[in-house]
Amino acid sequence: MAVPIIIDCDPGHDDVLAIWLAAGNPDIDLRAITTVAGNGSLEHTTLNARVATTVAAIAGVPIAAGAAGPLTRKLRTAPHIHGDNALGGVELPEPTTPLDPRTAIELIVDTLNSSTETVTLVPTGPLTNIGQLIQEHPEVLPKVERIVWMGGSTTRGNMTAYAEFNAWVDPEAIDIVVKSGIPFTMVGLNITHQALITQDVIERIAAIGNQTSAFGVQLLRFFNSTYEAAEGMSDGPLHDPITVALLADPNVVESIESHIDVEVNGTYTAGATCIDIHDMLGQPNNVTVPIRLNVDRYWDLIVDAIAHLR
Ligand code: BDR
Ligand code: CA
Repeated sequence: MAVPIIIDCDPGHDDVLAIWLAAGNPDIDLRAITTVAGNGSLEHTTLNARVATTVAAIAGVPIAAGAAGPLTRKLRTAPHIHGDNALGGVELPEPTTPLDPRTAIELIVDTLNSSTETVTLVPTGPLTNIGQLIQEHPEVLPKVERIVWMGGSTTRGNMTAYAEFNAWVDPEAIDIVVKSGIPFTMVGLNITHQALITQDVIERIAAIGNQTSAFGVQLLRFFNSTYEAAEGMSDGPLHDPITVALLADPNVVESIESHIDVEVNGTYTAGATCIDIHDMLGQPNNVTVPIRLNVDRYWDLIVDAIAHLR
């Protein structure tokens, strides 16, 4: 059976490819898309989710807007990586996929309640919506199979020395998630930096020759140019789709079980995801951490999915 999922995202170039992988892979059943402020304002990330589904002709998947900013902090965005509208480098068509009138939380609750199976939540942005869901709707949480999040790192960060962007934006929301007891997988920078967008990858995607691939190539070229400017990486890391890839094919990653705490107070370390890899604390495991990526298999999944779209 295809894995039922809800993607909660802040598109964002790599978020768009996560949506496409979910919609184009036969082993994933994409039930809903919800948006959150992160890479850009909520207005931009919501518009961009609708653009992503319009370009790829993904129909029948409701899209609803969620939190306009973190639970307690002021919103900080990522124009240095994603441009001023969170999806720079490409002309955006007028979206034809509608915006659902429900809030993200209402859509997630309805999707969980109407499902006969448990559903996996796949956040690829700050965990604000998911933290809010856990706080406000404990009654639906038994319908959540697991949470597979792109964010955090077992090593260093990409916004501060120790904080990855999604973690840095809303550390308090991560704290709620890890304390919820819901099975939690953290797809951190330690593995996403194995998914480098090489020239070869871009050529493979271009060769698909459909509308989605042409749009995707423009996204990836822009993303690589900003990564080059910001981090000196000419082949940027395609972070977010690893979440979906490991649900479509668990063998695409190797993982460890560990204990996570998140730093919510640190003057220099707020948003650090403290993964106790060497079990210094003797605390129970509460996180699955993918550490090794089958790179060839990952790109095969992405290319195959885009080839299935328009
Ligand atoms: C994460 O932050 C965003 O810029 C990307 O979309 C990804 O979710 C990487 O740190
Ligand atoms: Ca993202």
